Amino acid sequence: MAPIRQTTGASHAAILGIGTYRPSRIIPNAEVVEAIDSSDEWIQQRSGIRQRRWASPEETVQSMSVDAARIALERARVDARQIDCVIVATVTHMYQTPAIATAIAHELGTDQAAAFDISAACAGFCHGVALAADMVRGGSAGHVLVIGVERLSDLTDVGDRGTAFIFADGAGAAVVGPSDTPGIGPVVWGSDGEQFDLIRQKEDWRDVVASENPQMPHLVMQGNAVFRWASFAMAKIGQQALDRAGVAIDDLDVFVPHQANMRITDAMARAMKLPERVRIARDIAEQGNTSAASIPLALDRMIEEGDARSGDTALLIAFGAGLAYAAQVVTVP
Ligand code: UT7
Repeated sequence: MAPIRQTTGASHAAILGIGTYRPSRIIPNAEVVEAIDSSDEWIQQRSGIRQRRWASPEETVQSMSVDAARIALERARVDARQIDCVIVATVTHMYQTPAIATAIAHELGTDQAAAFDISAACAGFCHGVALAADMVRGGSAGHVLVIGVERLSDLTDVGDRGTAFIFADGAGAAVVGPSDTPGIGPVVWGSDGEQFDLIRQKEDWRDVVASENPQMPHLVMQGNAVFRWASFAMAKIGQQALDRAGVAIDDLDVFVPHQANMRITDAMARAMKLPERVRIARDIAEQGNTSAASIPLALDRMIEEGDARSGDTALLIAFGAGLAYAAQVVTVP
């Protein structure tokens, strides 16, 4: 048996910079309520959403990703040619194959970086960050670009009361690379496939094609069941991520949960007994639920508004279709 040499990478990994893209079209609640017999008041009370952004035809999964990634690279002071791998978390790239990550890697001018998409829905960005940290420490990549991007408006039925007011579009990117100190804690992740049906595409593409009246297979969601699961189960996952990182809740500065519903965020914060001083991401009010893009979008807003500062300790928790979830503690770049 020939000995196989192993690689080791950097001692530690960190997020070196993040960047985002918010589509230009702002859609207030008033614009979605008519088709679903709802009201601005109901939407704000039940979800915390005041408005969302939907992409225009020119704002594609690729263009939004590239714009967000360029900002992240600039802030990280990393050249595109230093990126060895591009991971794109998305469920709204409309080709089964090839992955959009290869086109993004090419447009950014990487030196033929490895590039692939991952499908972990709203938990995709935290899955990507976990993979990237392990790659940097394991030696399979020097720098990794992680992108969370969605054009959920393509897969949203504007007449569906349970989803039309929730889903939105946007992109967020993070450059993960070597660091002198640990900047990304151990991931706590998992899945509950018994609840596979709770959020999903309505039907298989083959059924769409076979249908007499083909319709886009929009996303459908059993909102209340997801709500109950996320509000209770995810607080435990957050605590485990803190424990695995060796970070006491009193040392936490920032909490950035997936922006699914303001009431879920509040329920998690209560269940975890987050101290008052911990700043909480509330991007959903202005941005809606952008699935894989929601955590980098929310963190970036906090940085821009001074609620998260470089060096702060942040807890990220992402959860969604699958059901799939992932959480980790990170240092704010
Ligand atoms: O990102 C992936 C993860 N996704 C999530 O985490 C989403 C989690 N779920 C949710 O955010 C919430 O379940 C929703 C915001 C989607 C819905 O809120 P809810 O409090 O769970 O409402 P519900 O479905 O239990 O419905 C309560 C009431 C019902 O009326 P009755 O039976 O009490 O008279 C519904 O008919 O609200 C009614 N309703 C609406 N009313 C006005 C349901 N949808 C609407 C609507 N507008 N859009």
